[in-house]
Amino acid sequence: MIITIDGPAGSGKSTMARLLALKLSASFLDTGAMYRAVTLAAMQAGIDLSDQDKLLGVIQTNKFEFSVIDDKMSIRINGLDVTEQLRSPQVTANSRYIASAPKAREKLVQMQRQFATTRQKIVTEGRDQGTVAFPDADIKFYLTADPAARALRRQAELRAKGDDQTLEQIQKAIEERDKSDRNRTVGPLKPADDAVIIDTTDLSIDGVVEKLLSCVKEKCLKEN
Ligand code: DC
Repeated sequence: MIITIDGPAGSGKSTMARLLALKLSASFLDTGAMYRAVTLAAMQAGIDLSDQDKLLGVIQTNKFEFSVIDDKMSIRINGLDVTEQLRSPQVTANSRYIASAPKAREKLVQMQRQFATTRQKIVTEGRDQGTVAFPDADIKFYLTADPAARALRRQAELRAKGDDQTLEQIQKAIEERDKSDRNRTVGPLKPADDAVIIDTTDLSIDGVVEKLLSCVKEKCLKEN
């Protein structure tokens, strides 16, 4: 069973993918972490981030490991745990280069499909999971929320890590990322035609999980 959750930054995808996977005893995959990991490796290697072939080279020459520890995705590059570094504002801002590099995207999508073939049930989240990576997924969700609500959520996360960017700075960065995610030619952010769209602006975490679970149950009942 493959469940996809796509949506813009701060819409709640990661939290929901993790919780839904837990409820369904499924694996979960945070594909944004893959884009971030390649970005970090490229930054560390000092390569020109706008050079697509070099970005592809970064994927091919480094060893990326994605695992789930204590319900959280943990990422290693060449054996070193980089999970925390992946959330830095620099990595976040620079991830748009790899996100718009077609050859690198193709390789990452291949890795995502490979991950899915080794799991019985998977909840995978990103921007293109229901549209490009898994067009035949069993259930597709698309989460959205107002930019102001998304900025508030991101601010709470960043504050917990000691980062004190203002709400305005965070919202501006989110809106810039939305624009670049929606307008790129490869794997743009958009709901799949058959996605269930959920606006999470005024919903609690539990409220969204309940909605997702009831859609999954409904779908399973219809099939049996
Ligand atoms: O979800 P996130 O903020 O961790 O994503 C990091 C970056 O990767 C962001 O610029 C969007 C991009 N991304 C993507 O293009 N396709 C995906 N499937 C997942 C993330």
